[in-house]
Amino acid sequence: MSFFNKIFVGSLLLMLGFSTVSLADESAKLVVEGQPMITRVKAPSHMENVDEIRSGWTFRIKETQSLQMDDFENPGMIFVDKGLDLWNKVEGSKNKACASCHDDASEFKGLRTVMPRWNESANALWSLEDHVNNCRTEQMGAEPLKWGAAPMDSLIAVISLQSRGMPMNVKINGAVAPLWEIGKELFYTRVGQLDMACSNCHEDNYGIMIRADHLSQGQINGFPAYRLKNAKLNSIHARFKGCMKNIRATPYEVGGDEFRALELYVASRGNGLSSEAPSVRN
Ligand code: HEC
Ligand code: HEC
Repeated sequence: MSFFNKIFVGSLLLMLGFSTVSLADESAKLVVEGQPMITRVKAPSHMENVDEIRSGWTFRIKETQSLQMDDFENPGMIFVDKGLDLWNKVEGSKNKACASCHDDASEFKGLRTVMPRWNESANALWSLEDHVNNCRTEQMGAEPLKWGAAPMDSLIAVISLQSRGMPMNVKINGAVAPLWEIGKELFYTRVGQLDMACSNCHEDNYGIMIRADHLSQGQINGFPAYRLKNAKLNSIHARFKGCMKNIRATPYEVGGDEFRALELYVASRGNGLSSEAPSVRN
């Protein structure tokens, strides 16, 4: 980004209420239920402008950070419990529950860290939501769940929790390579009335403050994330949508091609960070 652009974006951010004071304890270590998480690590080689990647957790204030260290205090775990109820619930014309075929969610250990990924039989990039809905419609004869709604996000939290602590390891070559390029393009494309790109905030300006909010790198290794702001789990696409609205852009469709490609690209920017779901954020 040119010097002029940096100044320009900097003044836009000030207008939005950003300032450059830093509050968070940047050296804090995240240990969840005794398990250490990788929250800062050398950036993957496909990231051109960042040396170190950092979990959004490292940008939160102490009180928010500590909520994620103890499962009894993590409000996201309530939704994991709800997800487990749904896991065992028989639904659809075939009278099956997830548990009828997957006795224990622990069989999905590692899955979160490689999603989204190419699905050969569908000939498409799949997010976790696609796996859930494919099993619901094909295996259970049940209605698909709505992306970003509580039942979907709770089931995804159950699946994602099985990978907690494992490093994100999304594949970016092979069949997904052209989609990764589209995602990258979207990350750097300015949109909306404020004419800003994801990168203007999450790459050029992470570390600064917006009101009480410390701007992070916009990583998704903690998703689904419990947000104190809306007191529920938030999906990856819902978060993308929120950020687009904040810059007064028309958000892409949740579950649509743009957000799918963006999810792949943003996930790959976190390769090496532990999967933290369900994380706790502002
Ligand atoms: C009738 C059996 C059956 C039921 C019920 C079922 N699944 Fe599946 N599931 C499968 C089979 C078989 C596969 C592997 C083939 C595929 O992906 O379709 C699978 C694959 C998956 C995968 C991908 C696993 C991987 O490592 O690639 C996920 C995630 C999943 N199921 C979640 C669920 C959830 C959540 C439910 C309940 C909403 C559910 N399944 C219900 C049979 C079932
Ligand atoms: C005007 C600045 C701005 C822009 C532009 C912006 N965001 Fe954000 N974003 C924020 C703020 C503020 C937060 C909340 C604090 C934080 O985690 O950074 C946030 C949070 C996030 C988070 C949650 C991170 C976590 O650890 O929970 C993700 C993911 C994210 N943004 C992705 C994006 C994507 C993708 C785009 C482009 C479509 C984008 N953002 C554009 C300001 C922005």
